[in-house]
Amino acid sequence: MSESYRLLLDATIQHLEGLKSRGVRHVAVAPATLRALSQAPPAAPKAPATSLRPQFQPAPPLELRGSRREEAQTIPPAAARPFQPSSSNPLPAAVPESLPVLPPLRPEAKAAAFGALRERALACVKCPHLAAARKNVVFGVGNMDAQLMFVGEAPGADEDEQGEPFVGKAGQLLTKIIQATGLQRSDVYIANILKCRPDTPGQAAGNRKPTPEEMQTCIPFLHEQIDLIRPQVIVALGATAVEGLLGKTVGITKLRGNWQTYRGTPLMPTYHPAYLLRNQAMSEKRRVWEDMLAAMEKLALPISEKQRNFFLKA
Ligand code: URA
Repeated sequence: MSESYRLLLDATIQHLEGLKSRGVRHVAVAPATLRALSQAPPAAPKAPATSLRPQFQPAPPLELRGSRREEAQTIPPAAARPFQPSSSNPLPAAVPESLPVLPPLRPEAKAAAFGALRERALACVKCPHLAAARKNVVFGVGNMDAQLMFVGEAPGADEDEQGEPFVGKAGQLLTKIIQATGLQRSDVYIANILKCRPDTPGQAAGNRKPTPEEMQTCIPFLHEQIDLIRPQVIVALGATAVEGLLGKTVGITKLRGNWQTYRGTPLMPTYHPAYLLRNQAMSEKRRVWEDMLAAMEKLALPISEKQRNFFLKA
């Protein structure tokens, strides 16, 4: 391998490592580049660096952005594990800064990447105690191209039973909230911080909050889901969802109603529907509804006068 080729290769590896450390998971590569990459590197040391360009030209970020969608192929990296908080840090604080600026995936590539991610989640046994106790891994449900994504805490008994998030009582309330916006459950995407039900050994019923270690272990799946879906708005349901996504442990009462940013995506923290089931006060319903109105405005969804006035006392 020539020296110039080796330098070029090193620079490319460095560039890709840089992208990876910033959270990039997919790199668009033109078919011609792929073909060139699959050829043997030039052996002759005499070849000047410029002569390599037609054969092997690593795409800089701007070219990646500009790649024609129909020409580009997407290669998910072999180990798509960009979010690696240290074991000494119990909270997922090191959320990658922003979503990579890359062309949208072609539908088949996106479906394939989503399917592969799902398979990995379904086979996950990283929390042996949860894997042993679970009936189902609750990956997520809804539209892969959703503009609006809801993130909750963790599956409960009903969700564990059915393998779908938010199907129990709190879930039925969430469905009503979604419908009140004029959307259907199938229009949005719903997922949790944790994909397995937190076990409750020795307890016949009840739920528990995920531990920081469980959240840290599971959250990379959610980061990857969000990377693929690329929603325009995320609604975080409750304190645990905010903690998992933003690393913030500020009380939900303080945070709700105030726009936050998850890697460049607007995130609205609001109360968990389970809280609304416990506290039936109209004022609390209105607060959640105001958060939803803010999300609808951000998405430029139509809002009727009737919708604006939901849960306002006469
Ligand atoms: N609560 C959650 O946070 N998630 C679910 O899926 C169900 C209840």
